[in-house]
Amino acid sequence: MQLSAHQVAQIQALKNEQNLTFTIDNTHILALKLDNQCYFYENLCPHLNKRLANDSMHCFDDSFCLIECQFHSAQFNPASGACVSGPCLGESLKAYKLTEQQGLFYLLTTSF
Ligand code: FES
Repeated sequence: MQLSAHQVAQIQALKNEQNLTFTIDNTHILALKLDNQCYFYENLCPHLNKRLANDSMHCFDDSFCLIECQFHSAQFNPASGACVSGPCLGESLKAYKLTEQQGLFYLLTTSF
């Protein structure tokens, strides 16, 4: 999935403990930054396939250590996407990685 220049600029502007959401090729993406590392997941909770977060809210728990779903508070490891607490324990978010090829940026699915 190729990112637009605007989406790349938004990602590059992310600060620690911030996130943003955007849609690319009809896929809703949640991008977040923790410990100076960016992570990308499909913005879809495996519990009821609802959006983990929306544009106007952060996607973290109170300690900013875990991703937390806005509906029933399932919590996910930000590095792996694995659910560590809540109604979808044992399931995982669909992860993507950002790659650059010849000056263009893409999100590719990962094998997490
Ligand atoms: S929809 Fe995410 S925890 Fe229920």
